[in-house]
Amino acid sequence: MDPYKPAKIVMDALDKAVAKVTALLPPAIPGAPASEPPPVSPPDEPREPLPRKADQASPAARTPTGAETEAPADAVGQRGEYLTTGQGARLYDTDHSLKAGERGPTLLQDHHLREKITHFDHERIPERVVHARGAAAHGVFVGYGTAAKVCKAELFGKGTQTPVFVRFSTVVGSRGSADAVRDTRGFATKFYTGQGTFDLVGNNIPVFFIQDGIKFPDIIHAAKPHPDREIPQAQSAHDTFWDFVSLHTEATHHVMWQMSDRAIPRSYRMMEGFGIHTFRLVNAEGETALVKFHWKPRAGVHSLVWEEAQLINGVDPDFHRRDLADAIESGAFPQWELGIQVFPDTPKQTFEGIDLLDPTKIVPEELAPVQPIGMMTLNRNPTNFFAETEQVAFHPGHLVPGIDITDDPLLAARLFSYLDTQLTRLGGPNFAQIPINRPHAPVNDMFRDGFHQDAVHAGVAPYKPNTLDGGCPFMAGEGTAYIEVPQAVARSTKLRRSPASFADHLSQPRLFWRSLTPVEREHVVRAFTFELGKCYEQAIKERELQVLANVDGELCAQVAAGLGLPAPEPNQPAHQVTASPALSQLGRTWPPDGRTIGIVVDSDHLNGLRGLTGAITAAGMVPLIIAAHGGSLDDGLHAQRTFLTARSVEFDALLLAASPPPARDAPASRNGTGKPSPVDPRVVTMVEECFRHAKAIGGWGSAKAALEAAGATTGDPGVIVGDDPTEVLNHVIELLGTHRVWERFPTTVS
Ligand code: HEM
Repeated sequence: MDPYKPAKIVMDALDKAVAKVTALLPPAIPGAPASEPPPVSPPDEPREPLPRKADQASPAARTPTGAETEAPADAVGQRGEYLTTGQGARLYDTDHSLKAGERGPTLLQDHHLREKITHFDHERIPERVVHARGAAAHGVFVGYGTAAKVCKAELFGKGTQTPVFVRFSTVVGSRGSADAVRDTRGFATKFYTGQGTFDLVGNNIPVFFIQDGIKFPDIIHAAKPHPDREIPQAQSAHDTFWDFVSLHTEATHHVMWQMSDRAIPRSYRMMEGFGIHTFRLVNAEGETALVKFHWKPRAGVHSLVWEEAQLINGVDPDFHRRDLADAIESGAFPQWELGIQVFPDTPKQTFEGIDLLDPTKIVPEELAPVQPIGMMTLNRNPTNFFAETEQVAFHPGHLVPGIDITDDPLLAARLFSYLDTQLTRLGGPNFAQIPINRPHAPVNDMFRDGFHQDAVHAGVAPYKPNTLDGGCPFMAGEGTAYIEVPQAVARSTKLRRSPASFADHLSQPRLFWRSLTPVEREHVVRAFTFELGKCYEQAIKERELQVLANVDGELCAQVAAGLGLPAPEPNQPAHQVTASPALSQLGRTWPPDGRTIGIVVDSDHLNGLRGLTGAITAAGMVPLIIAAHGGSLDDGLHAQRTFLTARSVEFDALLLAASPPPARDAPASRNGTGKPSPVDPRVVTMVEECFRHAKAIGGWGSAKAALEAAGATTGDPGVIVGDDPTEVLNHVIELLGTHRVWERFPTTVS
């Protein structure tokens, strides 16, 4: 008998007890690790692997050359009841090496030991050189048919459904870095169309740091950790970053966005996406138009506040990853409408004086409205992070008939870079055959051999022209082939230079600043002050202040005051700009789907809470009950969080059903009078933080004591106290429509 195995009778009794408790549990809160709750004692009857969770999907079971198969998508996962070797031979033991006697030396002939360890030794692959940290989901894109005027690509056809895989990412941090850092976010979409794969590899900021891809290594080397100490991780608040961008004024527009709330999104679900470059579309008649792609989130564009983001990075570094997966699991499927701004394809490739080949410039939506062309819904989580999210390979050169590129010099370098980096990252030239990368269109490329060749090609003549393979494959005709739009290339001189139209680096940073509301500007001021305040070198701060002086006097003065430095005078005339209200995140209302509401309770005040949690769930949100201890409370309710495990940053709004006294595990705490605090200090901290972060707070019953202990009062904007919990909840949901209660705080920026 195994001495470490608990007696079966004890385990059976425990299992029965767990089953009893499980039967009483409320509907699952998203995040449980497996599709079935585990028993306490390890099962001893062989069975097939558990099915994947209902919210998960795998890449379609296509062949390496894109053909459909009868196999279900999960057939590519491990199967069978018994543990086997890599070759499928069943094993009877995997815990002990093969030895010459119990205490003797391990034998080289132990092929299972060597196979297991060898595979383990090679489990890691290089992370992406940029955008290493990300999260992804499967979904579907449905075309509206409205793009037909300008584009013949089938995926935009009315009602056409195209499977998609979307990966969101931060840019600078390593694969294990935190989610809520101040950074640009990647927004890369793979459309598996019947005409081949189309990748829209964009960001959540509509402009880029540089105008020419040859400088990409420079900006990335400046933003990555310092090479000597390899710190700071996933941050731009350091000397090398500000050294580069203060010397390189074409980065200023991107830097303004990066210092705004856009760079600390509340959720991947609440970000806009931008294709950034201007693309050239072709319609069925062969006419061309220039366009910029925009993703507009149905949930609105919302952000964290900086202190909240910093707390999150410690409390839950996986915050955005978890949020995306939980939202999909709970049925709050994120949605984005895809839209295009359309410009005439003139020889100058400009619109209203804006050079469309300059990726540091936007075209304000007031000048060229975004026209909706389809809707994307993300509705399934990946089944395996490595197989899907890590191995997916996007490439701006993955285009389909109807979508072509322009001569944007940033895009040109990208067209080289992605395939090149993936050769190393994914170990050779056949990574398009990895399941997540397989096209959903027949592939017949005559590429042969190489590491990890999964296909078994027939024939003897992978060359053209040939007769031995019957002349196959044939060239497609104009109707279905991808044909680059014939473009006149001006007779010119070979040189390393940008056009004069790329020289204006400061008008659009000013346009952005002028388009924000005072509270958004205040955040920009604080972000610049924080980041420059973290730099050691005075010269770098002074240089950046000079850049800011040329963008806007008030911006510069406020940042300079925070740094304790004199504000320089502008040394260039200020640009006249017209504000673009579309650039502000505020001023509209949005659905509350997928938001999380924390409810603080104490076990004496549970009346009516069952109905309340039901109402929150019915409104598409997730209620989390926070109590002094875990497990079941009276009235059939269960605590999902305790005062020990909860932190305000997890909730979009907080409800107080009581002012609970300090729990058994509360740290000693005194209130302003030096007496022991009457309310659990962790609850007070939660209320304080929610208040400071401009979140809606609701309360009833004895809630006033907790509010007062946190310095909040009933009269404060967004603090709702009433007798009827449902009324309080409704008011709080209404407030969530605008995301934060900014009226709570006067701004110091005009
Ligand atoms: C408009 C400018 C750019 C945008 C919007 C952009 C966006 C992205 C995104 C979203 C990813 C992550 C893809 C994923 O999730 O797997 C990515 C990765 C990458 N980008 Fe860019 N990028 C831009 C400019 C550049 C430039 C100029 C270069 C180089 C010349 C470059 C090189 C790379 C590389 C090497 C990767 C890693 C790809 C991989 O390992 O699969 N990017 N970029």
